Amino acid sequence: MKTIIAKPSKNTLKYAAKLINDGELVAFPTETVYGLGANALDESAVKKIFKVKGRPQDNPLIVHISKFDQIKDLVVGVPKEAKILSKKFWPGPLTIVLKKSKIVPSTISAGLDTVAIRIPNNKIALDLIKLSKVPIAAPSANSSGKVSPTKAIHVKEDINKKIPLIIDGGECEIGVESTVIDLTKKVPIILRPGKITKEEIERVLHKKVLIAKKFSKKVSSPGVKYKHYSPNAKVVLFNKKDFYKKYQKYKNQKLMVLFFDNNIEFYTKNMFSFFRECDNKAYEVIMVEIVKEKGLGLALMNRLKKAALK
Ligand code: TXA
Ligand code: MG
Repeated sequence: MKTIIAKPSKNTLKYAAKLINDGELVAFPTETVYGLGANALDESAVKKIFKVKGRPQDNPLIVHISKFDQIKDLVVGVPKEAKILSKKFWPGPLTIVLKKSKIVPSTISAGLDTVAIRIPNNKIALDLIKLSKVPIAAPSANSSGKVSPTKAIHVKEDINKKIPLIIDGGECEIGVESTVIDLTKKVPIILRPGKITKEEIERVLHKKVLIAKKFSKKVSSPGVKYKHYSPNAKVVLFNKKDFYKKYQKYKNQKLMVLFFDNNIEFYTKNMFSFFRECDNKAYEVIMVEIVKEKGLGLALMNRLKKAALK
């Protein structure tokens, strides 16, 4: 199959919506990372996502909608917390896990009785959902195990010839995936840290939320047990004080060193893209400076620790 990369013109979006309605896949930008979309109500289209990404069947997908009303068909009951959080953070990088309704194919939820939903804050993504007139299931548009794509070209690197269309909306402004929060338990649980921080959520809900630490299948997001976000190069995390020792160890290999310059947004936005560039230039080791695990630093360190697992 030939993969076209097209700018988001009216015609491109119309064509993209037609592909979605025909049960095909379309890669599109969101504010976080690029998504690989299919009609969420079409089980055979959703199955293609797993095939193209090489994604394990037990890792559920996020359903993207364009307005809050669409949530009603997808879930059974909207708890108060979901109303509060969506009002505050949608459209935006927060994904809410709720009890699913029958119309959500079990392939999306990977057999769970829940469904993850968000409204992305990106005009192209929103236009595509509106034009398609269906909710769009979309994981990050990388092949499984690779880092998430933040540019259209990254999608092409991973899944060229496997899908008909990549909509090129330029660079994603956030560069790290959405925060995933489970609202089906007594206490809200953050399953995946992301751009919306624990602190922000607690402030809005006026209560403590938990962060899933033990990634057991029962309590958390199945996705988090898989190795993710790995460049081919070995990733070594360092603090300023142990830099020199680690540098001595790796200096004879093709080495890239990344120092944190106190701009956490910038560091986060460019990390995945930077990893891909290092791979393209065949770096063997990437040393990355550790940041504090609070605020957005929690999400960044979550991805970096996974990248360093090898
Ligand atoms: O920012 C994002 O969230 C991007 C853009 C494209 O929206 N999407 C994304 O999707 O990162 P993906 O598939 O790469 O990650 C989805 C995460 C996984 O960790 C998955 O396990 C979790 O959400 N998830 C999805 N449905 C779930 C459910 N019903 N219960 C618990 N976790 C769920
Ligand atoms: Mg992903």
